[in-house]
Amino acid sequence: MNPNSTALSTQNLVKRFDQFVAVDDVSFSVRRGEIFGLLGPNGAGKTTTIRMLLGLLAPTSGTGAVLGFDIVKQAEQVRARVGYVSQKFALYPDLTVAENFDFYGGVYGVPRDQLPERRAAILASVGLDGQENARVASLAGGSRQRLALACALVHNPEFLFLDEPTAGVDPLSRRSLWDLVYDLAARGTSILVTTHYMDEAENCHRIAFIYRGKIVAEGSPNEMKTRQMPAQVVEIDCDRSDVALTVLRDARLFDEVALYGALIHAIGENAREQISRARDLLQARSIAVNSIELIVPSLEDVFIARLRNVDINGRTTEDR
Ligand SMILES: Nc1ncnc2c1ncn2[C@@H]1O[C@H](COP(=O)(O)OP(=O)(O)OP(=O)(O)O)[C@@H](O)[C@H]1O
Ligand SMILES: [Mg+2]
Repeated sequence: MNPNSTALSTQNLVKRFDQFVAVDDVSFSVRRGEIFGLLGPNGAGKTTTIRMLLGLLAPTSGTGAVLGFDIVKQAEQVRARVGYVSQKFALYPDLTVAENFDFYGGVYGVPRDQLPERRAAILASVGLDGQENARVASLAGGSRQRLALACALVHNPEFLFLDEPTAGVDPLSRRSLWDLVYDLAARGTSILVTTHYMDEAENCHRIAFIYRGKIVAEGSPNEMKTRQMPAQVVEIDCDRSDVALTVLRDARLFDEVALYGALIHAIGENAREQISRARDLLQARSIAVNSIELIVPSLEDVFIARLRNVDINGRTTEDR
């Protein structure tokens, strides 16, 4: 496969459960060596999408291919070549680290005589060397997730699916998991990762926001913040931000005014043009304004603004 080739693509994927549409016309692609993030709140359709891509769930309609194999007709070939850390990845708590690893080696058909060498290399690469004989029950959450990742790598997969690998893991362990993901991608493994942590989106080469089964925005984190934001964000640093919030909301200069810690984010299509009026209003109420300026929106701002579009219009801006 050449470096820019497509490792995964899916077109118009749909999954219905009776009348309920869990995945609604989803299309995207992942290049080789790319970290692609599928971001969305609980129930958005992330796991259902992955299960269809792995041939574990039949799509209602739509098509897809992973590593050149059709997700419906060649699901076996797909599964033999990918690693999958599912949201409820099963490790055996009563077994040791090495026993769990070897178990997955068997599941993926790795020849027994190759296991010791792979085990040593892969456990070392995830930082679990020296812990081979520890029982999984005694491991902290972060170490368990790294073992789950190691187990999914036992057969040297070209593509890795990670479904919320960092959920419930402490920040330091989250960081070390992401470092492992970078290493894998740098060595050519393609990765589809889901998360509902907005800050983790920044770790991906490209991301898609999924909401109620639909992709509402897609691109690199930078593109999202600069080109795909349907509104501008003004950040205000002032005294008595709680009072300022009410003043700004009552004045209706912006579509949305929200607290971001001690700062205020005011969002609107032409927010920049309201800056001087906003400053005057606050000063008229004797609120000292330390700074008020247009900022590059955070991914959270983008997501919230896009969702607002979906909720108001029942469709995304692209549809218009
Ligand atoms: N087998 C099923 N039968 C009926 N509804 C289902 C089934 N599987 C999933 N759903 C529904 O489809 C929607 C999408 O679920 P999915 O698990 O894909 O979401 P998710 O984005 O992975 O969420 P989470 O962050 O909670 O893991 C949810 O409303 C869920 O209840
Ligand atoms: Mg899920």
